[in-house]
Amino acid sequence: MDNIRMFIPETDIREKVSELGKQLEAEYYGKNLLFLLVLNGSFMFAADLVRAVPLMDTEIRCIRAKSYIGTQSSGEVEVMNNDVINFKGRHVLIIEDIIDTGRTLAALKKCILEQEPASVKICTLLDKPSRRVIDLVPDYCGFQIPDEFVVGYGLDYDEKYRQLPYIGIVE
Ligand code: IMP
Ligand code: MG
Repeated sequence: MDNIRMFIPETDIREKVSELGKQLEAEYYGKNLLFLLVLNGSFMFAADLVRAVPLMDTEIRCIRAKSYIGTQSSGEVEVMNNDVINFKGRHVLIIEDIIDTGRTLAALKKCILEQEPASVKICTLLDKPSRRVIDLVPDYCGFQIPDEFVVGYGLDYDEKYRQLPYIGIVE
């Protein structure tokens, strides 16, 4: 077991998710919103976020995107839309756990834009702006964090630690 240092406690996450929910309700009032979960990392954040907007008109779909091996970005992004989700004319909100280099979301956003959605926005729990190699700014962001490898609350280190209810740093 690696040593994991507490970084963002559960209570802070809960408060932030509730704030984000209020922003989404205001922005998408009266519209149908397609929540697009980027698996696997965003599952816990998304589960809490959708419960913060119980009265919104929503559809929840999942997609897979992978660019990481261990703690390193491989530089290549694979987007897997196995369910063939149709984005045309939809308001799409991509739900991501963390933005690092920006490659994953840039690739995903490009795929979606090709289908002429009504809008595409990005909601990420965490953002490491100092690591960006592609110009990409999230529309909604929980916390900006320094260049540290974090785990928990859905985020993994080689598929471990996703179950932690808080965000920690692997030491
Ligand atoms: P990007 O394409 O470099 O922006 O990478 C984004 C993806 O890398 C995220 O969806 C995560 O799956 C993974 N990732 C980046 N940084 C971390 C981290 O600190 N901990 C766990 N996963 C990370
Ligand atoms: Mg991810």
